Amino acid sequence: MKLLTAEFPHSRLRRNRQDEWCRDLVAETHLSVKDLILPLFIREETMSREILAMPGIFRHTLDELIPVCQQAQKLGIRAVILFPYTDLRLKCEEGQEAWNPNNLTCQAVRLLKSTFPHLGVMVDVALDPYTSHGHDGVFREGQVHNDDTLKVLEKMALVLAHAGVDVVAPSDMMDGRIGAIRKALDHEGYQNVRILAYSAKYASAFYGPFRDAVGSQSCLGKADKKTYQMDPANAREALREGAQDILEGADMLMVKPGLPYLDIIYRLKEAFPLPLFVYQVSGEYSMLKAAAEKGWLDYDNALMESLIAFKRAGASGILTYAALEAAEILQR
Ligand code: PBG
Repeated sequence: MKLLTAEFPHSRLRRNRQDEWCRDLVAETHLSVKDLILPLFIREETMSREILAMPGIFRHTLDELIPVCQQAQKLGIRAVILFPYTDLRLKCEEGQEAWNPNNLTCQAVRLLKSTFPHLGVMVDVALDPYTSHGHDGVFREGQVHNDDTLKVLEKMALVLAHAGVDVVAPSDMMDGRIGAIRKALDHEGYQNVRILAYSAKYASAFYGPFRDAVGSQSCLGKADKKTYQMDPANAREALREGAQDILEGADMLMVKPGLPYLDIIYRLKEAFPLPLFVYQVSGEYSMLKAAAEKGWLDYDNALMESLIAFKRAGASGILTYAALEAAEILQR
C-alpha cells in the first residue's frame, strides 16, 4: 500500500509534535480510568498480608477490602476482580472449597455487592487456589481431567452467581468450559451473569509472583500448566480459542499476559467484534517495580506507556495491579 502523504520537506511529522496540546489532539488512542480493572487478593485474618514478589500489593481481609474499594471508586475505578489466598488446610485434590457457598470469595462478593452497589465485581473461575496440587482442574491419573473439571467449574460459577457476582472469568483453559458454565448459569436463572473468557491464556513464566500471592506455587512445585494453557509460540491457535469461546457464549474475551502478547490482542481485535480485555500480569507488574526500585527506569512513565500500548493494540479493558497508581496519574 502506498501511503498518501506529501514528501519532505513539505511533510514534516515533527510539526504536530511541537506542543503538548497538539500531541494530545492528534493522539490516536486514549487511556481512561474507566478502562481499568483492579485485581484484589483476599485472605483470612490469620494469613499474611505481604506478598514478597509484588511490592505495594497486599492480601486483604474482608475488612480491609472496604477502604481499598472506597479508594478505587473515589479514583474512578469501576470494577475489581477477586483472587483468594486459601488456607492449606482447606485445599484438597478436588478443590472442594471452590464450590463452598460460604468460602472467602463468596463472602467477599456478598460484602462488596452490598456495600458498593455500583462496583463491578468479577471473580476468576479456576481451581488452582483450592487444589492441593496447584492445578486449575481436577487431577486424575496423572493428568488434569478436562470433562470432570467442567462439572466442578459449573458448581464454582453457580455459588459465585448466587453470591451476586457480576462477571465470572474462567481462567482454567479447559475445552468447553464457557459453554458448560453458560448452560449451568442459565439453567439456574443467572442469565445476566456475564462471562469474561480468558481465551488466549498462555503458559507463562510471568505468573510467578501471582502464584506466590495465592499460595499455589508451593502446591504446584516443579509442575507446569502446558497441557492446558497455550504455547507462547502460537498465535493462530488463539483465534481458534477465541472463536470457540464466542460460539459457547462468552460476552468478553481476554488475552493474558499483556506486553509480550500485543500481537495476540491485535489479532483477536481484528478477528472478533467482542469487547477485548488484557491482563497485565503479576510478573509484568513486578518487573516494572523492581527496575524502578533500582532506579533503572521511571515507574510512572513506563507504566503509562505499557497501558497505552494495550489500547493501541486494541484492548478495551485492562486488568492491572497498578490500577490505583494509574488512576492517580491520570487524575493529575
Ligand atoms: C489462575 C490464574 C493465574 C493468573 C490468573 N488466574 C495463574 C496461573 O494460571 O497459574 C495469573 C495472574 C497473574 O500472574 O497476575 N488460573
